[in-house]
Amino acid sequence: MTSSSRKPIRKAVFPVAGMGTRFLPATKAIPKEMLPVIDRPLIQYAVDEAREAGIDQLIFVTGRGKTAIVEHFDHAFELEATMAERDKSLAILEPTRIQPGNLVTVRQQVPLGLGHAIWCARAIVGDEPFAIFLPDELMIGQPGCMKQMVEAYNAVGGNLISVLEVPEEDVSSYGVIEPGARSGALTEVRGLVEKPKRGEAPSNLIISGRYILQPEVMRVLEAQEKGAGGEIQLTDAMAKMIGTQPFHAVTFAGKRYDCGSKTGFVEATLAIALEREDMRDDVRAMALRLLG
Ligand code: G1P
Repeated sequence: MTSSSRKPIRKAVFPVAGMGTRFLPATKAIPKEMLPVIDRPLIQYAVDEAREAGIDQLIFVTGRGKTAIVEHFDHAFELEATMAERDKSLAILEPTRIQPGNLVTVRQQVPLGLGHAIWCARAIVGDEPFAIFLPDELMIGQPGCMKQMVEAYNAVGGNLISVLEVPEEDVSSYGVIEPGARSGALTEVRGLVEKPKRGEAPSNLIISGRYILQPEVMRVLEAQEKGAGGEIQLTDAMAKMIGTQPFHAVTFAGKRYDCGSKTGFVEATLAIALEREDMRDDVRAMALRLLG
């Protein structure tokens, strides 16, 4: 175990350079991460989850056409001045406020894969453990997914990934773990495979878009080796760290919505609306009406 393995988790990397082709034409001029689930863009849910877990240094790995994400977390002088003049409460903008200096962007200039995107943040991450959030995966829980992971990290240190079970026929779309001993929500990770063929997956426990990793992963990513789909895969780099550092999976106690797919997005919108006090009765009545 390295000396950095129990340093607090203060930094989070959000890979947000993807082109969002699955949501075209909606994502032609706005980033996929800015699509709203009710009244909050997807990226806001991930940032809220990070801050709930005590992480306040946000690193966005962006690309061309993604400036709206940074604008969203900036001080909007004209908007705030106008709202204040009209005696409107500014509380609604609270989640979009970031302390000066706590938001950093780096560009991923070419889409070479998730591992490459994370590697682009190496200079900002430096020599400390860090979290990763894939904003497509919308995780709702109390506490949130990353908070559950930080609690696990405080107990076991090392590297952690969140996992959940999916039906066998879906495993090929994800990173899959080979599970070892299990104790409560923690499972030892013995192996990792990115997008295994059906029938070759070591389990049906998939990596669900939240990670706490030691900085050594950046050194492994440095090799820029290509994996599944010809991309530089984060999963392959993590697999190489197994055996050299503790590696655990945390089974998330909560709900997960795959907002990378259209039906997942609709599901998230409906499920969250049905949970929200300000709208659940109306939405329930509407859903029942629609279902006839
Ligand atoms: C990425 C990861 C994969 C993980 C998935 C979660 O895949 O490479 O290991 O299971 O996110 O959504 P992608 O969705 O980018 O193909």
